[in-house]
Amino acid sequence: MCGIVGFTGREGALPILIRGLYSLEYRGYDSAGIAAFTKEGLKVVKTCGRIKNLEDKIREQGGLDCACGIGHTRWATHGGPSDSNSHPHLGGKDGHNSVAVVHNGIIENYLELRERLEAHGYTFHSETDTETVAHLIDYLHTGEQQDLAMTVLKAVSRLRGSYALGVVSLDRPDEIVAARRDNPLVIGLGEGENMIASDVTAIISRTKNYIILDDNEVAIVRPDSVVVMNEFGDVVEKTVQTVTWDLSAAEKGGYEHFMIKEIMEQPKAVADTVRPRIHDGQIAFEENGLTDERLREAEHIHIIGCGSALHAGIVGKTVIEQMARVRCSAVVASEFRYENPIVGEKDLCIVISQSGETADTLAAMRQAKAAGAFAIAIVNVVSSTIAREADGVLYTWAGPEISVATTKAYSAQLSALYLIAARIARVRGCISSEEERAVCEELHGLPDRIRETLTCKEHMQYLATLYANRSHVFFLGRGLDYAAALEASLKLKEISYIHSEAYAAGELKHGTISLIEEGTLVVALATQPALYEKTVSNIREVVARGASVILVTNDDFDGDESQCQQVVRLPKCMNRFSASLSIIPLQLLAYYIAVQLGCDVDKPRNLAKSVTVE
Ligand code: AGP
Ligand code: GLU
Repeated sequence: MCGIVGFTGREGALPILIRGLYSLEYRGYDSAGIAAFTKEGLKVVKTCGRIKNLEDKIREQGGLDCACGIGHTRWATHGGPSDSNSHPHLGGKDGHNSVAVVHNGIIENYLELRERLEAHGYTFHSETDTETVAHLIDYLHTGEQQDLAMTVLKAVSRLRGSYALGVVSLDRPDEIVAARRDNPLVIGLGEGENMIASDVTAIISRTKNYIILDDNEVAIVRPDSVVVMNEFGDVVEKTVQTVTWDLSAAEKGGYEHFMIKEIMEQPKAVADTVRPRIHDGQIAFEENGLTDERLREAEHIHIIGCGSALHAGIVGKTVIEQMARVRCSAVVASEFRYENPIVGEKDLCIVISQSGETADTLAAMRQAKAAGAFAIAIVNVVSSTIAREADGVLYTWAGPEISVATTKAYSAQLSALYLIAARIARVRGCISSEEERAVCEELHGLPDRIRETLTCKEHMQYLATLYANRSHVFFLGRGLDYAAALEASLKLKEISYIHSEAYAAGELKHGTISLIEEGTLVVALATQPALYEKTVSNIREVVARGASVILVTNDDFDGDESQCQQVVRLPKCMNRFSASLSIIPLQLLAYYIAVQLGCDVDKPRNLAKSVTVE
C-alpha cells in the first residue's frame, strides 16, 4: 500500500511525478504529496484526498518548477488520512528541515524512536511512523560532507519493520536516495534522467528499463547515474530488466473503468496463461522446477493466498483433490504464518498472488520454504518479490491489472491451477494420456467459453438495475460452486459496499437462514449436475422465507427453476472447470451494481490493490 515515485532529470519533474502518482493510485488513495527542489529550495505540498486535490493545491500555490522530486499516494496505517499525516514528511528541527521522506510500509519500533528523538529536541507534526524516519535521518546526517546514502544506511539499520523509502536532502538537490526492506521499489533508467517507483507502471511513460532494488539495499539516484549499495555499503551490480508490455496495456482504452476493461480481457488472460503450457496434448512446465518427480512425490499440497487469490486456491484445492487424489489444503496466508503449520520436506506449497508483494503471503511462503517445502508461486507481476523468492514461478500472463478488485488475474490463476491439477493427475496415473489430451483440449477452448459467457453482459446490467437496492445478498453453492460463491461475494462487497456472504448451500440452515427475509437477494450457483437437486432444495428453503433468487447454472440444467426470479445460463464446459464461467456473470453483476450506486469502482473505499503491510 502507498505508492512512491521519484524523478531526477534536467527539468519538468512535476508532470512526471503527477502522472506517476496517478498510475500508482491503485496502491492507496487517501492522501497525496510531493517534495521538490524549486528555486526557493525544498518545497512540500501535500493534502488529504485524491491526487486531483494535490494538483489543485499545487496550482493554487503557483506550481512547482523543479527537475527533481519525490511523490507519494497514501494508504494510512499510522494516523488517519489528514493533511499533516500525508507524506512527504520533513526531517529536522523546526525551521531547519534537512530532508524529506516518502515511505511505504510500517516502522514497528517507531514509538521508541520517537521518544528518543523528542528527547533530542525534535518536534513531531504527524501521527505517522514515517516522520520518525525523517527525523532520524536528520539526526544522523551530521557532518556537512556526509553522504546521504551512508546516513540512510545507518538510519535503516535502526528500523524494525518494513519500508520502501525515497529520501531527498537539501545538500543534494538532484539526488534521490532509495532504500527497501520487504516493500517493492524499482529504479527506472532513462537518458539523462532516472526514477524510483513502487512499480513499473509509474516509469513506463519515460522508460522500459529498470532495476529492482533488493531487501536491505540502498540506491543513489542522480540524473546521469544510479549506484546501488548493499547493507555494508559495498557497491553491487544489478541486472537491467525490461518491461514487456506497453503503456496502452495500463490505460482504459475507451472503457469507463479499468474493472470492466479487465473483465472483458479475461479470454486473453486465460489463453495467454494456458496455451504456452500445452504442447501436443500434454502439459509442460519447463520453466519452473515443477518436475514430474516432484509432483508425483508431493505428500501434501499447501495452497496459500489472501482474498481472491485464496479463493482461486480454494477452487484449485477441490480440482487437484478431485483429479489427482492428493491431500491438499487452501489456507489464508495470515493464518498459516502464525498457526505453526505441519509442513514436511516432501510437501509442495502453491503460493498465489497477483501482485507478488502481499506481505502475509510472502511471509507464509518464507515459512513453508524454511520448513523444507518446495514453493511454486502463481504470480502475475513479473520479478515481484514472491516471484523472485519462490523456488519456481508459474506466471499468469494477465497483463497489468489496475482495478483494485481483481478479475482477470483471478481467472488466470484458476487456469494455472487447472494446469497443475491435470499434470499432477497425469504423473500420478490418475488420468491416462488420452484423458490428459481431452483436458488440454478443454483448457485450450476455455477462453472461447469465457468469451461466450461474457455475452451475458447486458443481461447482468439489467439485473443490476433490479437488485442494486438490496442491503444484503447471499451467495450459495456446494463444492466448486461454493468456492466460486466466495469470490462472487467478495467482488460485490468490495466495490458496491453491499453486505454479502457466501455460504455452503447446505450450511445456511444451521443458523444464518434466520437472516433471510422478504426481498433478501440470494444468488444460487448450481453447475455440478450431481448436486443440482441438493441446491434446488436449498433454494426452496430460502424462497419459502421470502428471498428473491438469481440462479446461475449450466445451459443443460433441467432441474426445477420455477422458484427463481432470474436464471443465468452458462455455456457447457467440463464440470470441474465451471468456476471459470460461473464467476463471469457475477463479476459483471457486482460491477454494474457498483456503477448503479455511483461507487468509485476502480478504487473502492478503504482498500488498496497491493497489501504490503501485515
Ligand atoms: C481482490 O479483489 C482483492 N482486492 C484482494 O482480496 C486481493 O485478491 C488480495 O489482497 C491478494 O492480493 P494479491 O493477489 O496481490 O496477493
Ligand atoms: N506507515 C505509513 C503511514 O501510515 C505508510 C503506510 C503504507 O505504506 O501503507 O503513513
